[in-house]
Amino acid sequence: MKRTVEEHAARFDEYASDYDDGQDSDEYRACAGLVIEHARSALEPGDTLLDLGCGTGAIGLALADDADRVVGRDVSEGMMEQAREKAAADGIDNAEFDYGAFRDPDYDDAVGVVTSNFAMHHLADDEKREAVDTIAALGPRTFVLGDVMFFDDPDPSEPFYDPSVDDPATVGVLADALTDAGFALTAVERVADQVGVLVASRAD
Ligand SMILES: C[S@@+](CC[C@H](N)C(=O)[O-])C[C@H]1O[C@@H](n2cnc3c(N)ncnc32)[C@H](O)[C@@H]1O
Repeated sequence: MKRTVEEHAARFDEYASDYDDGQDSDEYRACAGLVIEHARSALEPGDTLLDLGCGTGAIGLALADDADRVVGRDVSEGMMEQAREKAAADGIDNAEFDYGAFRDPDYDDAVGVVTSNFAMHHLADDEKREAVDTIAALGPRTFVLGDVMFFDDPDPSEPFYDPSVDDPATVGVLADALTDAGFALTAVERVADQVGVLVASRAD
């Protein structure tokens, strides 16, 4: 991790109220759309959806009608306050947003599907592996990961990769972490050279 959890939280707190307006790139929209689509297909009646690095709730709120319960976890109180306000404005009453980090999401109930969009690239590769193991231990059927990830050689001149802040992994590193944790990769979506969606399902 190139910045501490506290530094990431402070950075996102600072621009939380402007965050949604900034997410207008084709790549972000396509990635979020694919995460939502794959998670929706994986959800079953009665399921809880756990969204890690939930930010302002883009993924969880879009899936609130499809899940019994939506649990969002993030380290930025400012981002989650935006999510809570959007839920209230839309009359969504089955979504909750509370503090939780990848390494300790502070959640131990049953979960059907875990999602994470554009958040895990803030972690170093060994921390991503730890996060994947933590997610696997919660026992979801499916984990849908949308993020900055390298399909080719890293290129800081391309969007979504600022080496001073971000620490994306190669698709291979992520695939190894997921399969080592007992998932099988059931879909790999290349959104752009440095953005993708991986769908991981329980191998058993
Ligand atoms: C680029 S935003 C993405 C938000 C949302 N998932 C979306 O698709 O719009 C990244 C989010 O990850 C959160 N984050 C960064 N490090 C984290 C950590 N270690 N654990 C949990 N959340 C983290 C940030 O606070 C921020 O809200």
